[in-house]
Amino acid sequence: MPSWPVPLAAAVTAAQLGVDRAAAADLLRFGDAVSDVADGQPPDHAAFADLDLAVARWAASRRSCPTGDGISIVVTGARGQAQLKPREVRSLVRLLVVAGIVTSARLSSVTLLAVAADPELQARVRARPADAARVVEEALRRDPPLRFVLRQAAAGDVVACRLDEANRDPAAHPDPDHFDIDRDEPHLAFGAGVHRCPGAGLARRQAKVLLQTALARTSALAPAGDATWDRDRHLQGPAAVPLRFATGPPGIPGTR
Ligand code: HEM
Repeated sequence: MPSWPVPLAAAVTAAQLGVDRAAAADLLRFGDAVSDVADGQPPDHAAFADLDLAVARWAASRRSCPTGDGISIVVTGARGQAQLKPREVRSLVRLLVVAGIVTSARLSSVTLLAVAADPELQARVRARPADAARVVEEALRRDPPLRFVLRQAAAGDVVACRLDEANRDPAAHPDPDHFDIDRDEPHLAFGAGVHRCPGAGLARRQAKVLLQTALARTSALAPAGDATWDRDRHLQGPAAVPLRFATGPPGIPGTR
């Protein structure tokens, strides 16, 4: 199956920011550079320098000629609100560039995999496409793309708050390893408090639409080998999910 989640997430981010879709490959490179640093790897200085250059160029062009896109809103400020300082604009645009691509792609991949690997679940979502939202929510709960967020304690120590562990706490989520789309417990995949993810709605919608589209355009979906799964990194989830599919009458993919 052609690769869907990463190009979709990069295209959505490019559209949201208002940058050329051709820049999506650069956005991906910047996102990877940030993920690597979060995993303790040495920074890719060239990627960070290119990111800063790109952000400065985009911000300057919207300052002189706002277009109403995401970058223009950050640069010119929402109505009635104080304008951000150039330093703040830079860090917010940087964050918007990198925060939503690989995270959203991982969520879409876990969601697709869950449905491809479980024929009963797949039949249910094919019959009731609205249940795709429940699959997305359970994917976020059981396999949150971001494993932890960092906080600085008053004493100066940096503390990693484990979202993945919290989401599998049996006191909050009975039988926590079991993928069950009928759960209704709140989870922490998007963090909590003032820094809770502002892109949660967009990420949820992307994964839901991708799953619904994949099911609408196929009659069967199944794993085609083992998914390559990053487990011990800041960003977890399947890096690749090979799938096979059929487009004819319902049945087992690959048999027709
Ligand atoms: C499945 C996809 C995503 C996941 C799992 C995710 C997860 C998170 C988490 C856990 C935080 C909290 C960080 C903290 O408390 O330190 C966060 C913050 C943030 N996210 Fe997301 N995110 C996702 C998608 C997105 C998207 C699509 C965007 C952009 C539209 C985005 C933009 C941001 C921004 C700007 C922040 C910083 C908020 C702040 O510090 O106040 N995220 N995200």
